Parts: sequence; structure tokens; C-alpha cells
Amino acid sequence: MRAWQLDSFGFEHLKLVELPERALGAREVRVKLRAVALNYRDQLMIAGRYNPQQALPLIPCSDGMGEVEAVGAEVTRWRVGDRVLGAFSQRWLAGAPTRDKLRATLGGPLPGVLAEKITLDEQGLWACPQHLTPEAAATLPCAALTAWHALVDHGRLTAGQRVLVQGTGGVSIFALQIARLFGAEVIATSSHPEKLERLRALGAAHVIDYKADPDWGKTVRRLTGEGVEHVVEVGGAGTLTQSLRAVSVGGVVHVIGVLAGASHEVDVRPILMQEVRLSGVMVGPRESAEAMGRAFELARLEPVVDRVFGFEEAPAAFAHQASGAHFGKVVISIG
Ligand SMILES: NC(=O)c1ccc[n+]([C@@H]2O[C@H](COP(=O)([O-])OP(=O)(O)OC[C@H]3O[C@@H](n4cnc5c(N)ncnc54)[C@H](OP(=O)(O)O)[C@@H]3O)[C@@H](O)[C@H]2O)c1
Repeated sequence: MRAWQLDSFGFEHLKLVELPERALGAREVRVKLRAVALNYRDQLMIAGRYNPQQALPLIPCSDGMGEVEAVGAEVTRWRVGDRVLGAFSQRWLAGAPTRDKLRATLGGPLPGVLAEKITLDEQGLWACPQHLTPEAAATLPCAALTAWHALVDHGRLTAGQRVLVQGTGGVSIFALQIARLFGAEVIATSSHPEKLERLRALGAAHVIDYKADPDWGKTVRRLTGEGVEHVVEVGGAGTLTQSLRAVSVGGVVHVIGVLAGASHEVDVRPILMQEVRLSGVMVGPRESAEAMGRAFELARLEPVVDRVFGFEEAPAAFAHQASGAHFGKVVISIG
């Protein structure tokens, strides 16, 4: 089978190689992959900035959809032909995480899905929502689950609450869609005026250009009065000060990403004086993915796919994602 593999950090070292198929264990499932979605994490992983200690060679990417091609003798969860998604963490099936569960992730440290086939334990898969194409479904395992785990599991999101989403990448667009699904009001930001209109079309009540309005936290407070109950913080340390202006008393900042930097001086007084919660999020367990899949199926929610590239075009897909020109998810179709 063919796979994109990294034998040294850096995009120039990402090579399409031919690899042998490994033998199937009794509880393992071989999946013929149909589509892979890219995450910012994959960019960091390939550049050697996510985990400089990552063992190489590595097949990158965590998010893949495929069809079951073969099952081991003791497999009970799946049959040949089933449409499946790989679980981001292969061992975090339910409940609270542990260090071991958080380490068992596809696309580093475990081999990833940017390949024609992958062999996984039967527990490391969940059922693909019926209404989605392979390209749309491949976007769910990391970006959608992160937004769901933050807002629904940790945040207990309810109708009428207000949610701030930052930028128009994968996690933020899913957070917008999930917030709308739950009847929440969304305030969304982007650095591209043309993307602001698309955010409105997806249901954002208010949109803000965060480059033109660097004090956007204050604008959020002006628009909402009390501030927002949830901030989906993908900017990280570089946007936290503005997020703390935007959040309501007793609200929660879901700390998810580092797009604007991982460390920065932050005044912690608003956190304690307004009983704000900072809640770290690390994607989520398989049981949450399954709950989300059912909810998306019932609502026939359609992920926002920006562009689909061919398998041989993987480097161009990564370059497109790195450009920041995308709106939603960048996907690679296989076969
Ligand atoms: N903790 C977790 O479990 C978890 C899971 C998934 C992702 N993440 C992290 O979350 C972040 C987002 O991931 P992603 O895959 O959704 O990224 P992505 O799709 O690559 O998002 C890129 C977009 O983010 C926006 N952006 C960039 N800098 C920004 C800033 N300073 N302020 C606000 N928006 C900014 C831009 O939107 P505009 O073009 O509209 O300005 C850009 O197009 C990354 O840091 C990623 O590592 C964490």
C-alpha cells in the first residue's frame, strides 16, 4: 500500500512510499481509507514543532474515514464493508483521560491515516454518520470532536447562551455549527472581510474583523452586554487577554489552540475577580465522538469542506491549509 511518510522533520521530507501491509491481529480491523482531513496539529507535527521527540518515520494525520476491508478472527464490533472513522485517541474510549490515553493518538505518536490502508484495534473505530460523504465525514475525529467536547461535555452548552468563536478554521466553524444546533447565539471573528459574510450565512449573529478591531474583546462586551458564556479559544496565549474581556462573569474560556502563540504575559485578575473558568480541552473520547455522530446524523449537519485534494496532491493540501486562505476543512480524497 502507498502512504505519505516522514523520515525527517520538515515538509520537504514528506514522501509518498510503498509499504508492506502488516498481518491482521485477532482483534484488529483493516480499513481501506477513503478520505483524510487536515488539522493544524498535522502541520506542527510535520514541522517537528508538536513533539520534537516524535519517533520517525511517521505516517502523519489523525483524521480518516474508510471502509472495513478485513477483520481479525475475534472481532465483534465490525463487519467487512462498514463505514468507519478512526478514533483520535485509540485508548481513550470513555470517561476522564489519563496520560496513557492522551498518548495513544493517531498521526503521532501512533502511525497516522495519510495512507491507502490502516490497521487498528476494533475499539479504535467509531461508526461514520450515514448522511455524510467520506470527504465530509473525515473532518469529524479531531476538529468537530474538540468543539463538541469543549462546548457540550465540559461546557454544558444550553439554548440562549452566547458563544464566541475565533477565526474560520476547522475547530471554530464546527463550534459555530454546534452552538447553532443547541440554540446558542454566536459571535464570530475573522481576519478576512469576505469570510465574515460566510460566517453570517452559517448563522453567526455578529461578526468582527479581529485584525481591523484589535480590541475585539471590548466589542464583544458591547454587543452582548454581559459578555459570552463560552469562548472557544483557538488563538491561545496571544488572544487570551481579549477573550477575558469578552467572557461573562462565571463564563468559561475553552483553551484549545495556540494559533496566536503558546505563551504570553496575561493579567490573571479578571479570571479570579469574575470567576472565569479556564478549561483545557484535548479532543475527546470515543463515546463523545459517537454521541456527536448521532446528533449530526439527526440534524443532518454538514461539515464545511473548503477544498478537496487528490492523494498525490498532499503537499499542496498542506500548503493551502498553511496559507490560512481556507474556510473550514481541507480534505484529501483517496482512491
Ligand atoms: N486542544 C485540542 O484538542 C485541539 C484540537 C484541534 C485543534 N487544536 C488547535 O486549535 C487551533 C485551531 O486548529 P484548526 O485545525 O481549527 O486550525 P486551522 O483550520 O488551520 O485554522 C486556521 C484559521 O485560524 C484563524 N486564526 C489564525 N490566527 C488567528 C488569531 N490570531 N486569532 C483568531 N483566529 C486566528 C484564521 O482564520 P481567519 O482566516 O478567518 O482569520 C485561520 O484561517 C490550533 O492551534 C490547533 O493546534 C487543538
